[in-house]
Amino acid sequence: MAIASAETQVCLIMVGLPARGKSLIAGKVKRYLGWISVKAEIFNVGKYRRKENAQPDASFFEPHNTQGEKARRAAAEAAVTDLLKWFKADTNNTVAILDATNSTRDRRKWVHERITAAGIDAIFVESKCDDEKLIMSNILEVKTTSPDYKGQDPEAAARDFRKRIANYEKVYETIDESERSYAYVKLINVGHQVIINLIQDYLSSRLVYYLINLHIKPRHIWLSRHGESEYNLQGKIGGDANLSSRGELYAQALPGIVRRSGVPQDTQLVIWTSTLKRTIQTARYLQAETKWDQLEWKALDEIESGVCDGMTYGEIEKTYPEDFAARDQDKYNYRYRGGESYRDVVIRLEPIIMELERSDNIIIVTHQAIIRCIYAYFMDSSSDKSPWMEVPLHTLMKLTPKAYGTKEERFKADIPAVSTWRGKGSAAKHHDSISDPNGPPTIIVGSPEN
Ligand code: SIN
Repeated sequence: MAIASAETQVCLIMVGLPARGKSLIAGKVKRYLGWISVKAEIFNVGKYRRKENAQPDASFFEPHNTQGEKARRAAAEAAVTDLLKWFKADTNNTVAILDATNSTRDRRKWVHERITAAGIDAIFVESKCDDEKLIMSNILEVKTTSPDYKGQDPEAAARDFRKRIANYEKVYETIDESERSYAYVKLINVGHQVIINLIQDYLSSRLVYYLINLHIKPRHIWLSRHGESEYNLQGKIGGDANLSSRGELYAQALPGIVRRSGVPQDTQLVIWTSTLKRTIQTARYLQAETKWDQLEWKALDEIESGVCDGMTYGEIEKTYPEDFAARDQDKYNYRYRGGESYRDVVIRLEPIIMELERSDNIIIVTHQAIIRCIYAYFMDSSSDKSPWMEVPLHTLMKLTPKAYGTKEERFKADIPAVSTWRGKGSAAKHHDSISDPNGPPTIIVGSPEN
């Protein structure tokens, strides 16, 4: 299913005071679009301004500072010019995000005229926020990571940044009724209230649906494959097998591993599994011990392997040699006869991603291909790499979304399991699980007895 027709080109124009999470939202939208194979790019006006004015102090942003105003206007011009060139260079370049404050009606009128004159749809995305906690965490982020304050004392940086915000506040005009001829989404305290105006076509609606599901409160997502299954032992793919005895041990160990991975105090997780026996069996001790809510999702079932279901990789290579080679050639797009490709899986996982964005702390017990796709969304991995990622059995991953990326930790149970990982161009090996030496550091946790 195509998400956008070749002609659709959309520019999201961010609006809002500094420290309102605009860059964070822009980054998430770009990552989401990359995951569904829509080409997107961010044009950050601050970056253009830094070419001439690397570390100006707050007075540069004073509304009556004519020199500052001229330089800021020139940076906006340069960003919009590059953005329009990017659209022109390739009709597959589909969504540009202009990351800037665009905090006055005049500035928005100018941007709107430039964008729409080039035949591009313009949607304003305003982040309006008076939640002090959210603002403070953004200030903390800026003072420690922004190139505007690199090498400076963090406390002096925070003071200057607050003055800069105050300067923007003097002229800030929120989007209101007078701008009702524009398409816009107004996100109030990200995730609390949303106002939507004149959103029409399919791609824009998809983008808006994503935006309204976002929240930026701290939370974690735990991912685990099911415990080793009878099919894993035999090297077979697909099916609906029971856990092996070692898989059963992993299921018993899982509540302790989750605890030791650090569940914030008084936090209720929700457990998601697929509808297949091996994930439900893996989650059952966890559910019994914690009494956390559990949901079964058909969308979390393993990639459908069609005619190859129940076969080993060796049998597939022998029976369907051309398919075996074609899958190695382009694993993301290869569709099993009568089954699915990774691209198909990403499409069916989209509602899961939307639900994950809306949710707080979730633990997902699912399958290898599904974890690869969910992981690719959070870690921004490319579609040619993600289907080859090693996801060992009996290992819990904990993902923590941060302002600019996702932190990953792995907790490996001290319970052996076969490795089901097969590298590109190789035959399936059948050995005990090993950790990828280039992967993230893994913490080994003992079995329930020790
Ligand atoms: C900046 O110069 O850092 C941002 C300019 C703006 O969007 O107001």
